[in-house]
Amino acid sequence: MLTSSLLVAIAAFASSAQAWLPSDASNAAVNKRSLGLFPAPGQEGTDKRWLPGSDKIRGVNLGSLFIFEPWISSSEWAATGCEGQNSEFDCVMNKGQDTADTNFQAHWRRFINETDLNEMISYNLNTIRIPLGYWLKESLVDSSEHFPKGGLDYLTEFVGWASDRGFYIILDLHGAPGAQQTKQPFTGQYADTVGFYNDYNYNRAIEWLEWIVDIVHTTDEYRNVGMIELVNEPLNWDNAVGTLRDTFYPNAYKAIRTIEDNLSVNSADRLHIQMMSSLWGSGNPVEHLDDTTFTAFDDHRYFKWDTSIEVSHDSYISTSCSDDRNSDGPSIVGEWSLAVPDDVESTDEWSPSTQQDFYSKWFAAQVHAYESSTLGWVFWSWTTDLGDDYRWSYKAAVEAGVIPTDLSTISSPC
Ligand SMILES: *[C@@H]1O[C@H](CO)[C@@H](O)[C@H](O)[C@H]1NC(C)=O
Ligand SMILES: *[C@@H]1O[C@H](CO)[C@@H](O)[C@H](O)[C@H]1NC(C)=O
Repeated sequence: MLTSSLLVAIAAFASSAQAWLPSDASNAAVNKRSLGLFPAPGQEGTDKRWLPGSDKIRGVNLGSLFIFEPWISSSEWAATGCEGQNSEFDCVMNKGQDTADTNFQAHWRRFINETDLNEMISYNLNTIRIPLGYWLKESLVDSSEHFPKGGLDYLTEFVGWASDRGFYIILDLHGAPGAQQTKQPFTGQYADTVGFYNDYNYNRAIEWLEWIVDIVHTTDEYRNVGMIELVNEPLNWDNAVGTLRDTFYPNAYKAIRTIEDNLSVNSADRLHIQMMSSLWGSGNPVEHLDDTTFTAFDDHRYFKWDTSIEVSHDSYISTSCSDDRNSDGPSIVGEWSLAVPDDVESTDEWSPSTQQDFYSKWFAAQVHAYESSTLGWVFWSWTTDLGDDYRWSYKAAVEAGVIPTDLSTISSPC
């Protein structure tokens, strides 16, 4: 609980919190991790409204840190005491709150910490996207819901380390109240029905967004958070829900700006508010927004699940080379990987251990496409427990020699 004198003290920070995107641009700046990459708050002549010039967002997702996907992180899931459980919700319900809290607190510190951030820097990465669940705000969790407690303390410490190192930080409401998709552990639960698309849960999500935005603008550790995503991967295509666009997005946008008005955050320092782009298939996200200032758009590009793409090496390279992922406004390819369809992933032709040349080339083709058509990219994910199969792990792909340690050496195969 903040005391009023602390509130006065931290109000000073409010005007220096920022909504910038990386703006300067030379590879030298990337390599040095200098403030030239991301201008320091309040620095003369920097305008946080700038979108990146020639420099690009190059980042990784922190998957399975605050929200697990058990299939991709099975040994860590087991080490967290959750083997056999479908999701955080199931694990906490079945193992008991206190045991789960102890186990999850150990997981957070062990799974991704300062050592990882240093490694990311050594690979020239400049951005992290952090998937978060609504249960981080513990007062939102009702008595029928079960989630680990204590996550905010580690998040705060962690974003402090990331800010110290100059990372651009995107926070993402990845697990929405009620679950935005069925049977998807990325929501933090394994729900039989979606419960998100109604006023009760929209309002809980908005309460969460107001809470985290206030924290971002009043807590020094969060000074490098430039973007907040309203909800990750809502229902799409045949299942798309109109109230997401006509109720949730406009109300969430207004609520965030009201918090910023109240904190007197100056106009250049407001957060970018991100929504899934229209390529996701939930419709035009800004259809019902009166104001679209500092909006940004998230594209998830997984060839693995796009059945319209012919499954061959040549087709993957040529499709990536001509891939235009820009839409709606400033866009980021916020999730993508080197994963291929289930029915071919274990075949010789697509084997990660013998087809490094192909995967290396395809990585470069995707980087080329996303950097040409958007502000840049965030790979899914930083680390996994899939062993030698590096197709979902940036860290493992670098270790396998498929991704170069120095991204500035990458050349386009297109
Ligand atoms: C990060 O976690 C790993 C794995 O538990 C550990 O080996 C390493 O020492 C930790 N790094 C720091 C800085 O605590
Ligand atoms: C903003 O400030 C006004 C005036 O102090 C207050 O009435 C209102 O509840 C605040 N809104 C939010 C969302 O904090």
